[in-house]
Amino acid sequence: MASWLPACEFLTLARQSGFYSSFERTQQWAWMANPDRSFRSTIGTHVSRIVDEHRQYLADGARVSAYRQAIEEVVRPGDVVLDLASGTGILGLLACRAGAGRVYSVEVSGMIELAREICRANGFQDRMVFLKGLSTRVDLPEKVDVAVCDQMGRFGFEAGVVQFFGDACKRFLKPGGTLIPARLDMVVCPVECQEIWSQVEYWNDSPAGFDFRPARQWAANTGYPVKLVPDQLLASPAVLTTLEMASAPTSFRREVTLVVSRRGVLHGIGGWFSAQLSRNVTMTNSPLVAERINRHNVFFLWIGRFRWSLEIAFAFRCILPCRTSW
Ligand SMILES: C[S@@+](CC[C@H](N)C(=O)[O-])C[C@H]1O[C@@H](n2cnc3c(N)ncnc32)[C@H](O)[C@@H]1O
Repeated sequence: MASWLPACEFLTLARQSGFYSSFERTQQWAWMANPDRSFRSTIGTHVSRIVDEHRQYLADGARVSAYRQAIEEVVRPGDVVLDLASGTGILGLLACRAGAGRVYSVEVSGMIELAREICRANGFQDRMVFLKGLSTRVDLPEKVDVAVCDQMGRFGFEAGVVQFFGDACKRFLKPGGTLIPARLDMVVCPVECQEIWSQVEYWNDSPAGFDFRPARQWAANTGYPVKLVPDQLLASPAVLTTLEMASAPTSFRREVTLVVSRRGVLHGIGGWFSAQLSRNVTMTNSPLVAERINRHNVFFLWIGRFRWSLEIAFAFRCILPCRTSW
């Protein structure tokens, strides 16, 4: 017997609840304050947050190691590489170390100035070219053999990798060129997660003696960052969809049925991703993998009626860049 979750529209800017949110907001504020000043003075007091966010990307040993291995596997001596959404430039530096002849480092924010300095500090200034701008708005003077990017959110697709790679494939990639990652599995699993369930239920509790129930609907209709552990999973996870980066659709709907494998309380659906970086390297934030990268999973509250059943069935509809319904 299956219990179907009624489709409930929610409009969530991935950036509002997402992996990159604080960083992007910080940048926006800094530039709005004074767009003409240099990187150092413009960022001002926000610099610590920005630099620290990038420190966390670098300090994620599983992530950096996966990209290093994949880049070493894919990049051939003399290759032209695009480091899309380059941040500190780490992926471009790894490509240089793997023998790339030239790396185009494309970054929309003032981080590009820091990346340029880091590049110089490592002696790669003759091989790295820095282009400031959104990847979809910049032009490259030549086609590339390899494009690399880690613009993946908690559920994989929502931070922009699909759109940005789709555009880069059309405009920049040589025929037969390689994308890192080449494909992405979006994975789902019914989960117990009392903590977030209680957070949402809070709005039903008349805080300060007022009726705040309208807020509950908003709170229920968004994705929450969470670090799931295996004990929270109520079934074997299933792949919701596989996105081929070279040809991924910008909207899709998938249905999935999962067989519950243990007793527990269904609070919602957990989501994460597994990215195929190269033939031999995958990278994931799966709670079931010991070498998971340091990126949260996403939690969607179960908004159907509770009913004991052996199967849980639901449908996800994703419309890129940032709309999901389930
Ligand atoms: C996750 S961070 C840095 C990732 C970096 N490649 C790394 O591996 O550490 C993403 C960076 O990409 C920039 N960014 C996001 N989307 C972009 C796009 N479409 N074009 C250029 N820069 C982008 C952000 O400003 C941010 O600095």
